[in-house]
Amino acid sequence: MVKKYTGNAPAKIILFGEHAVVYGQPAIAAPVGSLRVSATADTSTSGYLTIFARDLGRTYKVKQTKTLSREPLEMICQLILRHFDAPVPSLDLHLVSQIPIASGLGSGAAISAALARTLATAIGEDITNDDLNPMVYEVEKIHHGTPSGIDNTVIVYEQLIRYVKDQSIQRITLNHPYHFVIADTGIHAPTYLSVGDVRKLMEQKSVETGEVVEKIGCVAENALTALLSGDSTEVGALMNENHKLLKTLTVSSNELDHLVNAAIKAGALGAKLSGGGRGGNMIALVDEENIKTVKEALTAEGAYRVLDMSIGKTDS
Ligand code: PMV
Repeated sequence: MVKKYTGNAPAKIILFGEHAVVYGQPAIAAPVGSLRVSATADTSTSGYLTIFARDLGRTYKVKQTKTLSREPLEMICQLILRHFDAPVPSLDLHLVSQIPIASGLGSGAAISAALARTLATAIGEDITNDDLNPMVYEVEKIHHGTPSGIDNTVIVYEQLIRYVKDQSIQRITLNHPYHFVIADTGIHAPTYLSVGDVRKLMEQKSVETGEVVEKIGCVAENALTALLSGDSTEVGALMNENHKLLKTLTVSSNELDHLVNAAIKAGALGAKLSGGGRGGNMIALVDEENIKTVKEALTAEGAYRVLDMSIGKTDS
């Protein structure tokens, strides 16, 4: 009889501090529970571990080799098998993702986490988040080159976090609700390119760029204070400030700026790009009664996909 095992992981948004986080500044990120990657494992008689990634239009055959594969999906499976000292099982792993790729929503880390959880369960093991996080980080290096580690951390723990590279995670609990509209420009922009360009800026104009990066870190720290105190007007103003600083780092785009301006015009408290930038998604902070208006305005202004999410304590 075919046995089925499942595992999943959420998308994420960066509320404050992307790019600067690569240089040791604090950042704040939240999981997006409504957008997920799910994986299912079916026992098979093939003798192979095969991954069917329908959304990527690809199939992978995983072998346990001395050197790890450079294919992210194969690598995470190899890491799991190594961790549990397990042989390659005869399984079909099916991956289904609701998260668009190269859009600043952490699809790479979510795919790794969902696959790893499913494979671990299928071989009769339980992978803890503490053990999974560094594995997903290893795979992130293939996607991003020099990742800060924020994506894998927020996705694996599925928690609102304050993140500083190489420090222990600070989980954040908010006693006030915040509502965000997330809008996709529909433009795919690989994070390693924008991260690479910021690195070049750091090398060419180190003093000015270093100052911008530090300012982004201050914005993130002030934002945490504002979030904790329930000051949504200040949170919105800091998002606008963060977006301006990201523009200085050259990681925005006309499409992102257009959607950011459209959200503010429609009554958002603040808006900024989220993630690597140059394309992908922007986020806007909105009062609850304004969610619909801002979503409609962003759709009318050409957003490819619009959704909303809330964090913090709600009355319901
Ligand atoms: O994967 P993205 O596009 O959400 O970007 C991650 C955030 C960056 O700060 C741009 C890169 C990093 O590794 O922290």
